[in-house]
Amino acid sequence: MKLCMIGTGYVGLVSGVCFSDLGNDVICVDKDLNKIDNLKKGIIPIYEPGLEELILKNFKNNRLKFSTDLKESVSKSDIIFICVGTPTKKNSSDADLTQVYNVVKEITKSISKFKIIITKSTVPITTGDQIEKIISKKIPKKLFSVVSNPEFLREGEAIRDFNYPDRVVIGTDNKRSNKTLKNLYAPLISKGTKYINTSRRAAELIKYASNAFLATKITFINELSNLCEKIDVNIEDISIGMGLDKRIGSRFLRAGPAYGGSCFPKDTKAIVSTSDRFKSNLSVIKSVIKSNDNRSSLLLKRIFDILNNKVKNKKICFLGVTFKANTDDMRDSSCLSMIPTLLKKGAKINYFDPTGEKNEFKNFKNVSYSNDIKSGISNSDLIIIHTEWNDFKSINFNKTVKNKNYKIFDMRKIYSPKKMKEQKIKYFAIGS
Ligand code: UGA
Repeated sequence: MKLCMIGTGYVGLVSGVCFSDLGNDVICVDKDLNKIDNLKKGIIPIYEPGLEELILKNFKNNRLKFSTDLKESVSKSDIIFICVGTPTKKNSSDADLTQVYNVVKEITKSISKFKIIITKSTVPITTGDQIEKIISKKIPKKLFSVVSNPEFLREGEAIRDFNYPDRVVIGTDNKRSNKTLKNLYAPLISKGTKYINTSRRAAELIKYASNAFLATKITFINELSNLCEKIDVNIEDISIGMGLDKRIGSRFLRAGPAYGGSCFPKDTKAIVSTSDRFKSNLSVIKSVIKSNDNRSSLLLKRIFDILNNKVKNKKICFLGVTFKANTDDMRDSSCLSMIPTLLKKGAKINYFDPTGEKNEFKNFKNVSYSNDIKSGISNSDLIIIHTEWNDFKSINFNKTVKNKNYKIFDMRKIYSPKKMKEQKIKYFAIGS
């Protein structure tokens, strides 16, 4: 099939490359000339395990193309995926749909035969209705169909998530589009993926509801971990004990720092905002947002306690500063609020991240980057494990850290408290 992905950010690029790998002809379009030039040279704008190899393979065999010409790319394609960003509006909780509507206006200029226009970007409920309205002002309804097909890709796991999704959701009541899209996803359906066809509004809501529910699950376990710290119970025992109940499930039940990234914080706010607009109260999600906003302050308090409130001149090393492991993404990482507060209290911060130095900290005095774990932790008073990269899972701390009184605060609970105790390491972890 002939596909066009508009927007080569995370969603558009990963989905486009994976669709081409399934044998489709895909044009990935972006207005950023530099990005497109780089992609043609094999320079990838994001860190995602396995993506570079797939891009090179499919670019070479000519199934994957990159272009800045939206009009031409749309004309040549039958299925158009809108994959541009929908960030939170300034001074509001609503999603900013400027990029979506700009793209829709451009697409409209290139429709001369039947096209399926799909929102893959996360868009608020009724956006599909608005898009249909805009296009139908210029184009007869029989020449296009607007469909919602939300994505459920996790950064760092995106290629696996694309190839083995739990479900594919197609929101449309147009039979022709549904049939075509079922064919497009047939290679995944034949491996066991569930395909569901819903109304367009339902598909839009399924995406928000899924992210909001996962954020709720994480917040629930994070709050329980606070309780566990007070009653000498290990939060992992609770996660395992609860997760084994199939009605609950074990995934997304790992306590950690405040959830971050480009999706959960933005999407929880947007669904609440939509619901408020329809005069319906999503009080559970509202309290999830509040609890998560408060989480970094709670963890900072724990850091102050671990350091006996003597933070001034303490050397603190962060292992991992992105919002989670296996990504270079700093968006809404809890480090962005914790590190500046520690600096204000006089701490000296250094950090190591497997994806390299971060621009976000370049202008801070008293923040330095270490090129490897060893140089990062060797002089530390406190080591904070902020993300759970495999690289951090078997460090010989006693051999590496010179300072005899060093402490560890494990925010992902990747070490065994018992084994740490046996090695006489002053080890503190979330939820125990
Ligand atoms: C999330 C969803 O998982 C995807 O299904 C969705 O497609 C994507 O948002 C999106 O809307 O585009 P992502 O933001 O890449 O994916 O990251 P997650 O793996 O979901 O992690 C989000 C946050 O939750 C991170 O801060 C992570 O550390 C935290 N988390 C996750 C926990 O604290 N505990 C867990 O058990 C799981």
